[in-house]
Amino acid sequence: MSEAKRLAGEKAIEFVEDGMIVGVGTGSTVAFFIDALAGIKDRIKGAVSSSDQSTARLKQHGIEVLDLNHTGTLSLYVDGADECDPHKRLIKGGGAALTREKIIAEASKQFVCIVDPSKQVPVLGKFPLPVEVIPMARSLVAREILALTGGQPVWRDGTVTDNGNLILDIHNLSITDPVAMEREINQIPGVVSVGLFARRPADIVIVGGEPPIVLK
Ligand code: A5P
Repeated sequence: MSEAKRLAGEKAIEFVEDGMIVGVGTGSTVAFFIDALAGIKDRIKGAVSSSDQSTARLKQHGIEVLDLNHTGTLSLYVDGADECDPHKRLIKGGGAALTREKIIAEASKQFVCIVDPSKQVPVLGKFPLPVEVIPMARSLVAREILALTGGQPVWRDGTVTDNGNLILDIHNLSITDPVAMEREINQIPGVVSVGLFARRPADIVIVGGEPPIVLK
C-alpha cells in the first residue's frame, strides 16, 4: 500500500507550478509528496502546513513554512484522505489534523487529494468519522452526535490535537448525505470541526497505482 501512496504523492508534483506557495496536508501519503516537493523546492516560494508533523518534515527538507494569514488565497492544496466517495467527498482526520486541513482546503483554489485505492468507497462512513471538540464539551458533543446520527462516538483517548483539543471518532455510520451531516455536526456547540469534506470536496483525486489514475 505504501507503494501506491508513493506513486500518488509523486504524481501530485505535476500540479505544482513555478512560484507557488503550496498548501500541504498531513499523513503518510503526504509525506511522499513532501519528499518529492523537496526535489523542486527552488522553484516554489514555500508551503503552508496543516500540522506540526508536516511542518517538521518540510523544514527538514529546507522548504520554508509560511503563515496562512500572510499568504492569502493559495493556488494549490495537496492532502490525503481516510475515505473518498465517487463525488470526491472525503473523510479526513485519521491523523487528528482535520481542522487545519479544512482551513487550508477552504483557502485554496484547487484541492488535489492523493490516496491509495483502499480509500475509495461508494458511501462514506466505514472509517470512523473524526470530530475535533473543545475538551469541556466532549461528553455533551458525544451525546448530541449519538442522538443526531445514531453513530457510536468513541473518545480517541490520549490524543490531543495541535490546537489543544480532543477527538471523537464516530463509528457505525453510513453517510448518504454528507453535506447535511457536515452542516448539522458543525452546529453542535463545542465542535471545532468535523472530518467530513463535503461542502468543500476535493477538486481532483489521484489514486496511486501503476500508472496513477487522475480523477477530475
Ligand atoms: C490527517 O488528519 C488525515 O486527514 C490524513 O489526511 C489521512 O489520515 C490520510 O492519511 P494517510 O495518508 O497516512 O493514509
